[in-house]
Amino acid sequence: MSYKRKLENLIPGGAHTYSRGADQFPINAPEILSRGKGAYVWDKKKNKYLDYGMALRAITLGYSNKVINRAAINQINLGNNFTRPSEIELKAAECFIENIPSADMVKFAKNGSNVTTAAIKLARSFTGRNYIAIPRQHPFYSFDDWFISTTPIKRGTCPDSSKYILLFDYGNLDSLINLFDQFPNQIAGVMLEPATSETPIKIDSIELDDIKQDDNILHSDLNFLYSVQNLCKDKGSLFILDEMITGFRWHLKGGAYYFGVEPDLITFGKAMANGFSISALGGKKEIMELGSINIPNLERTFLLSSTHGAEMCSLGAFVKTVEFYKRKNVCSHLWKYGIELKNSFNKLSQNHNLREHIYMTGPGICLNYICKDNDLSISTEFRTLFAQEMIKRKILMPWISISYSHGNRELNKTLNALDDVMKIYKKALSEGVHKYLEGPSIKPVFRKFN
Ligand SMILES: Cc1ncc(COP(=O)(O)O)c(C=O)c1O
Repeated sequence: MSYKRKLENLIPGGAHTYSRGADQFPINAPEILSRGKGAYVWDKKKNKYLDYGMALRAITLGYSNKVINRAAINQINLGNNFTRPSEIELKAAECFIENIPSADMVKFAKNGSNVTTAAIKLARSFTGRNYIAIPRQHPFYSFDDWFISTTPIKRGTCPDSSKYILLFDYGNLDSLINLFDQFPNQIAGVMLEPATSETPIKIDSIELDDIKQDDNILHSDLNFLYSVQNLCKDKGSLFILDEMITGFRWHLKGGAYYFGVEPDLITFGKAMANGFSISALGGKKEIMELGSINIPNLERTFLLSSTHGAEMCSLGAFVKTVEFYKRKNVCSHLWKYGIELKNSFNKLSQNHNLREHIYMTGPGICLNYICKDNDLSISTEFRTLFAQEMIKRKILMPWISISYSHGNRELNKTLNALDDVMKIYKKALSEGVHKYLEGPSIKPVFRKFN
């Protein structure tokens, strides 16, 4: 029996994350992986792949980084989980607060979904209001019902769980102002990612480091995040940034710092500890302390409480990851690699006369590749073909997540493969994609039916 069959027999979805599922990859993707080191992973048959998936963006230093592993193992040897707070729990909190300018306090958890849900609860608790606004363009905030019920996969969620979730358009302030007009004094918080491949500042120099300190740009209407922050302040609503993907990439202090804003609440996860499971909710003291136990007669808010929330190996790995980032200037490496990859990718597609059909978008730190058919419509079939052909050349590229272990050798290997794959892409455009596609097309995660 194939690993795919075995996995799907035992695990609904065949994996513990839908984006790891077989429907997200071409047919020739490795069905099961055995190990990873640096920028590479190996399957059971000892095939070695250069990886751009990087554990759903949780690995930014490289798989099995010795320094981070050692820090985690030290904590495991100390006991890994205690009955009262551990020393590393305090040290990790100090490290987080020191690093994230907008956070006076922090609560750790295991998953990103836990902390985004907690941010919403806290916003409701602080403001006494119910509604939360999120951008309709952002794909995912939580596995909890409040978010899932806004997607096509509503089955099993309580019918009114999305009743208090409002949608606006990222980058369009008027769409958010309209919501505030429609629901006056009722919106507890506005939650958004600082940036995706769509950025809050629409200028070409977005790649350049110097925009981050240019006050005339950052603190002006040119910066969508700054406008949202001001609007929230004006309306008595909390400004919440979800840094699950931007955190530990745009800047070590986060996307909020990069874009010159100070959210009331901020969430992190994914790359905090190079693959060890940890997430964080940070924020201003007067909001966060609603979850405290030491303010006399305060009506209590049950804010994040879990048995494994302070698992010591992840906290130890987190502290070491921050040290590693500072010592090696990791974010700068991620930016440089991304910019080079994007420029070279687009140059190659230009050389193959495919510039309108296959190209990379977004800033170097948050790239996306776009695959289009003959009609210039976005095509999952062509995307599947592209990923299939990259896998034949031993490169896993379901999306683009870069790590510190991606260097010149990896860039050259990628560009050589791309040059080949673009030839096939071109043939598929003229002869039909089905002639070259060896299995079913990948499918969107958020679809109503299988
Ligand atoms: C922006 C964003 N927020 C929240 C989450 C949820 O994080 P987790 O999968 O750790 O629960 C994700 C996960 O992909 C995410 O991309």
